[in-house]
Amino acid sequence: MFKMFYPAGIAGSSYDIDYEDLFEKGYRGLIYDIDNTLVEHGADCNEAAAKLFLRLTKLGYKICLLSNNKEPRVRRFYDGLIEAGVDVTNINYIYDAKKPSRKNYRRAMKLMSTDRKNTIFIGDQLFTDVYGANRTGIRSFLVRPINKREEIQIVLKRYLERVVLHFYKQDRWKKLKQSNVVLIGFMGSGKSTVGKALAKKWGFTYVDTDALIEEMEGMTINEIFATKGEEYFRDLETETVKKIKNKYKRHVISVGGGTPLRAENRKLLKKTGVVIYLKTSPETVLKRLKYDKTRPLLQRPDKEAAVRELLEKRTPIYQSAANFSVSTDDLPVDKIVSEIELGV
Ligand code: S3P
Repeated sequence: MFKMFYPAGIAGSSYDIDYEDLFEKGYRGLIYDIDNTLVEHGADCNEAAAKLFLRLTKLGYKICLLSNNKEPRVRRFYDGLIEAGVDVTNINYIYDAKKPSRKNYRRAMKLMSTDRKNTIFIGDQLFTDVYGANRTGIRSFLVRPINKREEIQIVLKRYLERVVLHFYKQDRWKKLKQSNVVLIGFMGSGKSTVGKALAKKWGFTYVDTDALIEEMEGMTINEIFATKGEEYFRDLETETVKKIKNKYKRHVISVGGGTPLRAENRKLLKKTGVVIYLKTSPETVLKRLKYDKTRPLLQRPDKEAAVRELLEKRTPIYQSAANFSVSTDDLPVDKIVSEIELGV
């Protein structure tokens, strides 16, 4: 009923979106709302915004700020970027944009030399930002407004937004209920703890591919690596992922940290369900696996170097394998589950 207002995705904040992953997927242009999307309503450009834009322009994105606000406000934000040392060669702005009118979304793409297929819109309002992006045919992210205390005319809009979002979530939930959730991530990223909590909350069944493999072979992972070698184990992983894809519905599936390394597995996982990457820093992994003896790849005297090396090599692979990612460092399990619920 409200589909024209549905965003393509929801993110906790403009700062949490996995821009590296989107770039890898071919996106080149980013259109941003400013007020309550990048900074509080009317606020100047701050350090976080400048840092983000520095990162995005370095990655190779073209950016256009698209605001319904007046020129002096938009210009002030833009000048703030310049003052912070951001190279604005590839950053444009449009003020008084009259969103949801399509005209200025199109102009933004023209300024960036991008098209509907490789441009993303990021904003905090459904009836202006997201609706306009949908009308133009651009993929959009809805982000939580930075400041929760808003002007009275916005408060009413927010109430209506909640109604739309209720239906949006119901629709997505209906689809998801017939599917699966796949958790990927490095060893020690919390896949099994988070997976069990998520499955319990949703009434899904939890399954762990490492456990399935151990059961199938009647051996521990350590024993499989020691007697039959890593390649043999990797073949078992692919076999298991194939079986799961055809057999399971309404499961939370956590796969071994190395499973997404094969392109074939990445494809299969995407077909199995929504793939979520649980991101962890090397420090967290090392803390959690300090005394672990069950991961053959980390049984080395230079464990720290092994973790850093593997994690660096694997991070882009995990990112490209996932539909979205959640950072798990220092977050309690229930918070990670909420972040996942927000993203699916
Ligand atoms: C591996 C991760 C392990 C297990 C095996 C190899 C890897 O699973 O499959 O030791 O290559 O990262 P967890 O990620 O569940 O620890």
